[in-house]
Amino acid sequence: MKFIELANVRRSVRGYDPRAVPEELLKSVLEAGRLAPSAANRQPWHFVVVTDPEVRKRVAHAYPRDWFASAPIVIVLCVEPRRAWRRSDGKNYCDVDGAIAMDHITLCAADFGLGTCWIAAFEPEKLRQALELPPEVEPLAMTPLGYPADHPTPKKRKPLEKVVHWEKW
Ligand SMILES: Cc1cc2nc3c(=O)[nH]c(=O)nc-3n(C[C@H](O)[C@H](O)[C@H](O)COP(=O)(O)O)c2cc1C
Repeated sequence: MKFIELANVRRSVRGYDPRAVPEELLKSVLEAGRLAPSAANRQPWHFVVVTDPEVRKRVAHAYPRDWFASAPIVIVLCVEPRRAWRRSDGKNYCDVDGAIAMDHITLCAADFGLGTCWIAAFEPEKLRQALELPPEVEPLAMTPLGYPADHPTPKKRKPLEKVVHWEKW
């Protein structure tokens, strides 16, 4: 698939088939995350993979939606701010690095015909408890991973003229 087609095909999937995801596909999706670029190549991320139904249930307490609970796998993207690059003004780039890794994950999954959905609206404390995260590790975003059972409507995006500025603002 050409990249522009993949960027179009990747949608937020909010309905999952309980069918298992082959382990080699899961590993490739994680590998795509590992290969992401990061500021000063610090790679301040961790991918917590949740497949155990009991742990998934605990994770779902942090984001109680039926469609979320239906996915066979959840990947929680965590960052370690202390390991990330900081700009001279102190800005920490761990969220940017984590977001790129998550985007690699979601795009790679779409290339395999798998569904994902970025989730940031979870309750961080509940997620921390469910995964026994150490205090220096921050859950940034998570995604279900599985075969789609819903068909999202066409993408809604602002037209290019509204977001591209040529030469000056
Ligand atoms: C940083 C980020 C956080 C998001 N958090 C949530 C979320 O908590 N719950 C949810 O259902 N969708 C969430 N989304 C998905 C967006 O709603 C979705 O990407 C957007 O509406 C565009 O639709 P598309 O992904 O199908 O192209 C999030 C997306 C991003 C990038």
